[in-house]
Amino acid sequence: MGEKRPESMERITTAALAQAFVDEQLALLKEQIGDDKVLLALSGGVDSSVVAALLIKAIGQNLVCVHVNHGLLRKGEPEQVIEVFKKQMQANLIYVDATDRFLDKLAGVSDPEQKRKIIGKEFIDVFAEEAAKQDGIKFLAQGTIYPDILESGPVKSHHNVGGLPEELNFELVEPLKFLFKDEVRMVGQALGLPDNMVFRQPFPGPGLGVRCPGAITRDRLEAVRESDAILREEFDRNGLAGKVWQYFTVVPDFKSTGVRDDKRSFEWPVIIRAVNTKDAMTAAIEPIPYEVLATITQRITSEVKGVNRVLYDVTPKPTGTIEYE
Ligand code: XMP
Repeated sequence: MGEKRPESMERITTAALAQAFVDEQLALLKEQIGDDKVLLALSGGVDSSVVAALLIKAIGQNLVCVHVNHGLLRKGEPEQVIEVFKKQMQANLIYVDATDRFLDKLAGVSDPEQKRKIIGKEFIDVFAEEAAKQDGIKFLAQGTIYPDILESGPVKSHHNVGGLPEELNFELVEPLKFLFKDEVRMVGQALGLPDNMVFRQPFPGPGLGVRCPGAITRDRLEAVRESDAILREEFDRNGLAGKVWQYFTVVPDFKSTGVRDDKRSFEWPVIIRAVNTKDAMTAAIEPIPYEVLATITQRITSEVKGVNRVLYDVTPKPTGTIEYE
């Protein structure tokens, strides 16, 4: 904490500079780690994925990646982590499907802070249990990036508080700690990670849990996951994916009357949120073309079980935060 990026460090703005950073880090990591083992919680987010790709190149099977599926990931995410890291990069990857464990603990809990706490604690517990099964781990790798250690760090510093428990008290390996996000993405490209991983929009640690406001139920969570997948597909198809900073759906815990197949329905609405921001402290609404909204609405109301309406949130931050909890 409190470390400063060396003044001599050039901004990584080209593929050649990203490659030079990779080469330099590979040498440093090999020297720091030697023949020891490193543990990494691999979420599939940009930062942990880039750290994983770097360490796989540096130390191969001595990197033990643990991917914890807390049941609150987006559609297709665990599959992509397994495909890219295990199948393509031959990583030593442990996949833990802890969905039931998380959802059981969260059942009936409606307070947002309580939900975050449960998810955070359960995550550490599952990860620590996997760590305890491993022999000879000496290091813990983390995808810390420079904004995380700057005092003004907008996201992780105020959301992901709390240190590591005793069982995870390994020496830290943080190869990205002086990089800004755009530099991390360039390094990810230099390492050959797929674009949809490198240019992923931010995704909160508690995942879809904060987009299923109030007490999470499996059916409403499924409606969040399916509607999010449709939104992402349509943003990709309509060239909005690279332009909008963050976009997702929320399924609030109330139902309204509708009509389907000439019968009255009583189902949830899906709320669409799409915002642009520089630092997540303030955010502006991205105007989505009306035809795109109409297509998304048509698809969501016909493909997502339990949903009869689609609403578009036009509130900037402030007064609304980006997420709903
Ligand atoms: P808000 O909702 O506070 O979100 O406007 C600002 C940015 O932070 C992300 N966010 C989180 N990220 N853990 C995270 O790692 C969290 O608990 C969390 N909550 C919000 C949010 O997605 C947005 O990009």
